[in-house]
Amino acid sequence: MKIAEARVGTRLTVQRAVVWAVAASGDQLARLAAAPWRDDPYSIYERLRSGPPITRSRFGWYAVTGHDLCSRILRDRRFHVRSVDGVEPQVLTEPLIPADYAVTPTFLELDAPDHTRLRALARPAFSPSKIEGYRATVTKTTNELLDRALAKPEFDLMTDFAAPLPIAVISELLGIPEVDADRFAEYGRALGAALDGVTSLRQARALRAATMELRALFGDLIQERSREPGPDVISALVSAMGTGKLTELELLTTCELLLIAGFETTANLIGNGMWAFARHPDQWERLRADPELAPGAVEEILRFESPVQMTQRMPHEEVEIEGVHLPTDSIVVLLLGAAGRDPAVFSDPDRFDIGRPDTDHLAFSSGVHYCLGAPLARLEADIALRALADRLPTVRPLATPEWRGTTVIRGLKSLRLRP
Ligand code: HEM
Repeated sequence: MKIAEARVGTRLTVQRAVVWAVAASGDQLARLAAAPWRDDPYSIYERLRSGPPITRSRFGWYAVTGHDLCSRILRDRRFHVRSVDGVEPQVLTEPLIPADYAVTPTFLELDAPDHTRLRALARPAFSPSKIEGYRATVTKTTNELLDRALAKPEFDLMTDFAAPLPIAVISELLGIPEVDADRFAEYGRALGAALDGVTSLRQARALRAATMELRALFGDLIQERSREPGPDVISALVSAMGTGKLTELELLTTCELLLIAGFETTANLIGNGMWAFARHPDQWERLRADPELAPGAVEEILRFESPVQMTQRMPHEEVEIEGVHLPTDSIVVLLLGAAGRDPAVFSDPDRFDIGRPDTDHLAFSSGVHYCLGAPLARLEADIALRALADRLPTVRPLATPEWRGTTVIRGLKSLRLRP
């Protein structure tokens, strides 16, 4: 086993080197996955946009930058998240990882009918009345975290505020007591980075450790809720399991999905937004002068610096689109972050303008996988921005922040600010 693992490790290293070499030779799509180019995906998108509407990568997959085409493909029923044979697409890595590191897919990575069934079971947790019910927790947590952060001579917006806020909210939604926010943030980073494909054995191990710890945590909670149900989502799912609507493994993966999707992205929405404000102080002043601009500001951050930069689909039949022939099971990458900067839809797209009238971004995707948590993310970001605007006169980072070095998820490692 050890020798087999070492061999896989070597192949992954070679693969990373190949991607980097192709990127260095000027290949724009490889650059999305390689340092240092991936830190500025927008100039890559701009170059791609000057080419055909669908670009074929040297690695065999296809990429789409246009808003209209991304939206059409996401809503097109011929496209799915798995191949005809049910295999998950591997864009940035080959399926080299040993089977015992494999992570069980959540309904985000499943097609109908399993996707439809599991999504329907999770949906009630996000009804408008439930979302409104989380307002008090979001407001209270926001104020407590800011009280603590702003009492320090300097603070890190990511670890002191942007990450713990959504972690607290999603933990309440799931009924997880005594949350260790730092540990959860670590799991989030491991699972979030895995969306790029697992590119090293070290990463595979971190991913497996995070998954196993989450399994143990949710396993205990499921036992508890079976004995003593509460008003939380896990209790509702446990009761659905009792009537045979989902298996225990599906219940576990659904909890994992809700937890990780629930904070990894929202933390980056707040972080990316504050970094955008740091670069556009006039927009910060505008928000401070008129907090009613907060909902528009949230949409503008999602368009301008989307926390999820891309997703992918595979046609289950041959498809002819924009003059391009897409074979059955070809991987099509929809660049949601590029769609947000499409000049055909957004005027002056590289300008950060919290009052812009055109806010029809694809940051929450579209079609059957449209983000289930979008109303919750909007609520959290709205309350967070209003509170920050109220209490932080200027957004002046103490150092230029670094991006996290991931491709699918776009977020900062830290954002150090002075109150
Ligand atoms: C700024 C915050 C967020 C962003 C940018 C975001 C983005 C996305 C995107 C792009 C997808 C679909 C991916 C695809 O089409 O392949 C998605 C799906 C999903 N999101 Fe979010 N999300 C956010 C917050 C949340 C929150 C707060 C929750 C839950 C509490 C959540 C739960 C989910 C779930 C369960 C799915 C899977 C839906 C399905 O497959 O049917 N998200 N999200």
